[in-house]
Amino acid sequence: MTSLSLPSTLPLRRPAVVEWPGIPVLGPLLELRKDQLGTFTRMGAASDAVTFSILNKRLHLLSHPEHMKHVLVDNAKNYGKQTRGYQAMRSVVGNGLLTSEGDHWLRQRRIASPAFHKKRIDAFGETFVRIAAEAAAEWTREEERDVSRDMMRLTLRIATITLLSRDVSSEADAVGEALTVGLEHIIRRMNTPWALPESFPTPGNVRFRRALARLDSVVNATIAERRARGPREDGGDLLDMLMTPAEDGATMTDEQLRDEVMTIMLAGHETTAMSLTWTLWLLSIRKWKRGCAPRSRKCWAGDSRPSPTCRGSSTPTASCTSRCASIRRRG
Ligand code: HEM
Repeated sequence: MTSLSLPSTLPLRRPAVVEWPGIPVLGPLLELRKDQLGTFTRMGAASDAVTFSILNKRLHLLSHPEHMKHVLVDNAKNYGKQTRGYQAMRSVVGNGLLTSEGDHWLRQRRIASPAFHKKRIDAFGETFVRIAAEAAAEWTREEERDVSRDMMRLTLRIATITLLSRDVSSEADAVGEALTVGLEHIIRRMNTPWALPESFPTPGNVRFRRALARLDSVVNATIAERRARGPREDGGDLLDMLMTPAEDGATMTDEQLRDEVMTIMLAGHETTAMSLTWTLWLLSIRKWKRGCAPRSRKCWAGDSRPSPTCRGSSTPTASCTSRCASIRRRG
């Protein structure tokens, strides 16, 4: 008997809700800490709805688009953000749109939404193509590349140029690296219920605080520059909208601005970068699988998931992708 019952309106593609096995008290926590991507992939393959318990906290992994709509859109009010996951995110993005709730979230959301209207996003099209073409122009045949790093740089440039009118190319690696340290810190704290306070000088906390200081310096410089220069003439970007006084004349504090800008930098680049990296990887194995299956078997151990050398990493390693590319090119 599982402890998760879904509304009958929600479709299930695979067998009913699955209770994921684990050890007493900790449940699958050690499995998740060892291989988060692998464990979630196995859970997703078992059912659209998997439930498990960690330290008497019941968690559910939902993998069906309708279920996500049910939680994130249709019934968002029923799902609070006072969990260890959001708490961990707050150490990077503070109380920005991703982690805020209630009236404060609604107010910030109303202010930021016009920046995401379809017309505006369509207008960004040319900028997307230009920046993607500039990135592709750096690629040459036969070279090995860290595709996930390339995609992180690309999406960071796109998000900051289109929404903050700031080109971070010159510091993209440092900002990308600091954001990655921040993301790893969030995942580590989500998977470590017994973590020491962030103020405790562990190597991980020290590295995190340095990365956060790096990000804060970029974000605060962006805000200060805009304050000094004033809003853009052409109707402005997201930063102008966030800095424009609301109907009641209230303006955001620097802390609120910092949280919203940091949220956009984090939420607006890593997600798209990972989607693009996996897409490129899938494209490379698809074409490669058709072109050179016999040779590939050795490399991929006969199925489409990454070979052991790739397992455990959150994205396909450069060598996997370039190995496919070089095998394919060699034909
Ligand atoms: C493949 C790309 C993306 C995926 C899979 C994705 C996924 C998500 C998910 C699941 C949430 C809900 C989180 C929650 O409520 O707990 C979310 C919220 C958010 N995302 Fe994305 N996202 C993507 C791209 C972007 C981009 C490009 C931006 C901005 C440039 C962005 C900005 C945001 C913001 C601001 C929120 C908070 C919205 C709110 O609650 O008001 N995301 N995203």
